[in-house]
Amino acid sequence: KKSVDDINVAGKRVLVRCDFNVPLKNGEITDETRIVAALPTINKLLADGGKVILCSHLGKVKNGPNEGESLAPVAKRLSEKLGKDVNFVADYNVTGEAATAAVAAMKEGDVVLLQNTRFRGKEETKNGEEFSKELADLADVYVCDAFGSSHRAHASVAGVTECIRAKGGECAVGYLMQKEIDFLGNAVENPVRPFVAILGGAKVADKLNVINNLLEKCDTLIIGGGMAFTFLKAQGLEIGKSLVDDEKLDYCKEMMDKAEKLGKKLLLPVDTTIAASFPNPIDAEIEVSVVDANKIPADMEGLDIGPKTAELYADAVKSAKTVVWNGPMGVFENPVLAKGTIAVAKSLAETDATTIIGGGDSAAAVNQLGFADKMSHISTGGGASLEFLEGKELPGVAAADDK
Ligand code: 3PG
Repeated sequence: KKSVDDINVAGKRVLVRCDFNVPLKNGEITDETRIVAALPTINKLLADGGKVILCSHLGKVKNGPNEGESLAPVAKRLSEKLGKDVNFVADYNVTGEAATAAVAAMKEGDVVLLQNTRFRGKEETKNGEEFSKELADLADVYVCDAFGSSHRAHASVAGVTECIRAKGGECAVGYLMQKEIDFLGNAVENPVRPFVAILGGAKVADKLNVINNLLEKCDTLIIGGGMAFTFLKAQGLEIGKSLVDDEKLDYCKEMMDKAEKLGKKLLLPVDTTIAASFPNPIDAEIEVSVVDANKIPADMEGLDIGPKTAELYADAVKSAKTVVWNGPMGVFENPVLAKGTIAVAKSLAETDATTIIGGGDSAAAVNQLGFADKMSHISTGGGASLEFLEGKELPGVAAADDK
């Protein structure tokens, strides 16, 4: 792939698609990871004398353009981080006259941030030709650094690349995108073995293709979280009131057969932390106990892996050279149900193996626990990292590729 090191941007207008879809609470950014992660690419393009035009989506924008989903807070934080002015074009039209004028006035080393691309509704999310062209018209070169959005074939990720090329412009990927592809891609396609994959989270249904793909690629597949109970039930165990996806029992059996046929280890919980019901609110004080996985009482619910399982999983991590982890082992938002997730995070923090954390909940858990510095790579993409682990070619990755 062409990267920002391979293109000449001096004096040129460079449109950079970032993933500035950051969490906000009362208008304040609560996690700036994605802004910080975009800085190396932006700084490189500025140092090379580019006119840097940034764009991104924020939120789902279900009810049309609104101040709550404006990129204004991002502009402010970004300007602090870069140590220079970011000219934010607040216009809801995104690419309209205000944007054109702001870009026309740019000098080398200037930064403009366009408004939330999803303010253009379906024109963005259905990869509209008109909007793609309007974005491309603002620039000479396009750089994709929005790994977290690269599973979406949206105008600012996909369509715009065709329009840039149609007028003879180049497309490239930024440093963040490159890093994500290198780590996630190598882990899956070219891992240093033994390769251990750890999957958690609530639902089997969300991870069907990930389980299937990783089973083929890894040496040991570890299952935790709510979805482990569907596997346990498929083995014929009584799981009480634990979360279960009855429609996926056959699928789980198929995966267990597949593991055996391929000679892969598939590890499931051998014990579990149970409670009478799911905590409500999620961090409520509750009474828990630990039982073996084959002794879950009919009126109890498994909500975390137990200590024996945590040890078993940590041992598997110790023997690995590459570890990929996606999804918590239990209801980690509750302190008494976080032990399994903490134990797994700790085992990753302590190993010399290459450790890769999928975005979303597992990234949040690792950050919260203060282990972020100990991991080789924490993905900035939730859905995107999952689709990557499914072995799919992501539309954004494909579009940015100047073959
Ligand atoms: C994410 O947060 O995973 C990305 O920014 C994509 O957001 P989306 O799911 O709203 O497309």
